Parts: sequence; structure tokens; C-alpha cells
Amino acid sequence: MERRRWNDSSWAALWPKRERLTNLVTPVLLEALALQPGEQVVDLGCGGGVATLRAAELVGRDGAVVGADISAPLAELASRRAAEAGAKNVSFQVVDVQTDRVAGGPFDVAMSQFGVMFFDEPERAFTNIRSQLTAGGRIGFACWQAPDQNPWFFAGSLAGLIPPPPPPEPGKSPTGPFSLCDAGRTRSILEGAGFAGVSFDAREMSMEVPEDAVVDDAQLTFMGVPAEQMGEVRLAVDRHMAQFRLPSGLSRFPIAFQIVTARNRGV
Ligand SMILES: C[S@@+](CC[C@H](N)C(=O)[O-])C[C@H]1O[C@@H](n2cnc3c(N)ncnc32)[C@H](O)[C@@H]1O
Repeated sequence: MERRRWNDSSWAALWPKRERLTNLVTPVLLEALALQPGEQVVDLGCGGGVATLRAAELVGRDGAVVGADISAPLAELASRRAAEAGAKNVSFQVVDVQTDRVAGGPFDVAMSQFGVMFFDEPERAFTNIRSQLTAGGRIGFACWQAPDQNPWFFAGSLAGLIPPPPPPEPGKSPTGPFSLCDAGRTRSILEGAGFAGVSFDAREMSMEVPEDAVVDDAQLTFMGVPAEQMGEVRLAVDRHMAQFRLPSGLSRFPIAFQIVTARNRGV
């Protein structure tokens, strides 16, 4: 399901619009990671590679960063951007980081900007990721705080208009942007996966971006809104999004995320 969703080429083509919502998160994540020259890094769910490329600058030519993503079209976008930037110490692989190994390990650091919330077996995924880190290697990722702290997420305004996502299969966990928002649960997943020193840094910011960084008709179609219902859904979305609009034509969206850091307990 996640594989199909992220590999949809029309979704991927719109990704540069969407990633504008989170541009200011990258420096916060990188500061928490404190990457050092020469380090080997994997960026999990790297998408279009914006954070991957910043990380590659920080580890310098003696280090390397591998961007790993389940989406072939997004990995292509990232590779194109790396070539345009002339970045030599960065590469991209199409892999499911829940189950697969990323070539080029072991890594000193696993990082992710909103790319680790889509695992239907999160403890298995983080165990797999930890097993590819050096002893004492670190992980640091950005994930969203709760939906009520992130009113830009408009899906609540569609309740009753589009069907809710199907429940996960037995033994699997729900996936989605807020799946790691509960710090207690996320701590227990990471500790169960063999990480120690789990810590959370909750941050709030606001982003002034065009509204289509969050939603447009293509996004609604992708969410399964049928053409005959688009008018009614669009009205509900417009009512919700009006609260963020500024006279400048941009929208100001409050965003609430957390940076989660931990280290590999294994030897
Ligand atoms: C919200 S996007 C974030 C992308 C990018 N890190 C950014 O900040 O723009 C989530 C990314 O995780 C990837 N992803 C989801 N599940 C994955 C999995 N199991 N293995 C690898 N990548 C995955 C998606 O393809 C997508 O690129």
C-alpha cells in the first residue's frame, strides 16, 4: 500500500510543491545530528533528497551520504538534484528500509526528515535500521507531533466526505504522518529495537508558503476524492484553509514536530 502510494508518478511529480512546508525543519534536524566530516550517513525515506544533500555538505568529501527511499520517481528526482549540485559524496537507492539493507553500511548515523512514519511493523523496521549502524552509531529523525497541534493537516475537515483509511491487517500498525507522534509509544518502539538514550525535542514554527504546499485538487484526487464529489470536498477544504490565508496571497501554517534522537545500544 505505502509502496504503491509513494511510487505513483503523478504524486512524485508534485513533491517539490509539498516539500516547501518542511524546508525550515532541515537545519533543526541537522543541528541535532551534529554530523562530522568523514561520517557515513543514511537518510531514510529521503524523498527528493533536500536534507540528504545538506548532510552531504556537512560530512564533506571524506564522508558519504546514501539516500534510501521506497519511491523510484523520488529517488530519480533526488539523483537529478545531486547531479545538478555536482555532489560527489551522495547516492540514492530504491529500498524498503523497513525490511531491506541499504548498501554502503555500516553507517555512523541514520537520519530522516519525516520518512520513518510509514512502517506497518515499526519495531521490526527500527531493528533493521539499527543493525546497519556502527556500535554507538546514532539515529535522529523529525516526525510530527499530534494532529491537533498541526491544523494544516486538513484531513479532519473531510470526515464524513471521504471514507476513512482501512484498518491495518492483524498484527500490523497503522501508518501515516502521525504514527510516531506519541512520545511514549515511540520511545518503547526504539528501545524495543535496541536503541538507548532516546530523547525528544518538541518544536513549533510557522511556515509562510503557498497554500498548494499543503493541498490542491491533485492532492484531493490522490486521496481518493471522486470527480463528482470534488466540488463539495473542495468547499470543506476551502473553509478549513481560510484560517491560514494572509493578505500577501501566502498562507501561514503553524507546524509542530519533534526531533527524536537515540544511539545504537549494540556492540
Ligand atoms: C513525507 S516524505 C519525506 C521525504 C523527505 N525526507 C523530505 O523531507 O522531503 C516520506 C518519504 O518516505 C518514503 N518512504 C515511505 N515508506 C518507506 C519505506 N518503507 N522505505 C523507504 N522509504 C519510505 C516515501 O517514499 C517518501 O519519500
